[in-house]
Amino acid sequence: MKPQMLTTWSFGPTGNDAAMPSLLEGGHALNAVVQAATVIEADPTIDSVGVGGLPDADGNVSLDACIMTDPNRCGAVMYVQHFANPTQIARKVMEETIHVTLAGEGAEAFADSLGFPRSQILTAEAKAVWERWRKDPNNIDRDKYRGWLPPINVEELRGVDVKTRPHAAEPLHDTVTILARDVKGQLAGACTTSGMAFKVPGRVGDSPIVGQGLYVDQEAGAAGATGTGEIISGVCGSFLIVELMRRGAKPVEAIRETLERIQKRFSLHQEHQVAFVAMSKAGDWASGALRPGFRHTITDEIGSRVEEPTMVLIQD
Ligand code: GLY
Repeated sequence: MKPQMLTTWSFGPTGNDAAMPSLLEGGHALNAVVQAATVIEADPTIDSVGVGGLPDADGNVSLDACIMTDPNRCGAVMYVQHFANPTQIARKVMEETIHVTLAGEGAEAFADSLGFPRSQILTAEAKAVWERWRKDPNNIDRDKYRGWLPPINVEELRGVDVKTRPHAAEPLHDTVTILARDVKGQLAGACTTSGMAFKVPGRVGDSPIVGQGLYVDQEAGAAGATGTGEIISGVCGSFLIVELMRRGAKPVEAIRETLERIQKRFSLHQEHQVAFVAMSKAGDWASGALRPGFRHTITDEIGSRVEEPTMVLIQD
């Protein structure tokens, strides 16, 4: 079968290109998604994942990640603050414990016990963005929100010059979700993020929650999310897409129905963006976004292409 990888956002090639050679040579889809996620987590220029991720309101970075190949084979970590590779730790939770999810200090003690190296996640660049945000009196009410306000425009809040910023054409990019299908037709997914910039300390979004940021079932398909976690969580977005595919929907139909449910059940604001990627066991795939701005990366034997999503729900 034709191996392929489908990843959220234009920095997909950073990870997919590293992982694709092994996938083409017969490697397992799980190895491919973990390898791709690890490369992206290590890239300090990507400010929404791993090293270089933007911090919470107190200036501390916390990372969440999840991996999955089947309902009985998944692992996650959340609120990891001192390790650069949460996806690899999530894999170890799946492979070496009876649990699915470890959080905070427990997850870090587990990583220590396995010899994962501790790292500085907060880069000077991310700290400078946070300091600019903190000083902006228009975006802060420290007493009421502990320095956090819902973003009106993520780029303005971050204080980043979108003209000089990498991936500047994507004003609301964040979480990386990677789906892969190997030569045996096996599916796997990984989802990794530093979460919403300037979040309330302690906040965890959709990404490390099985069924929200990621869901994979070899009998039905794989789906993963990026964007505002609070909206994805409420509809169990990735699980819903896979269940719709189980009932016969094509990936694009399942994504559209899920986005329509979000549109119907939430009071959406301009800053809300959600996008999904989905892949069937047969290798059909699609992506879809609530609003324009999202792009996916598809990688196969020809190479990586960064493309517009298959569908966009709201053309504003
Ligand atoms: N989708 C990532 C998050 O909201 O944390």
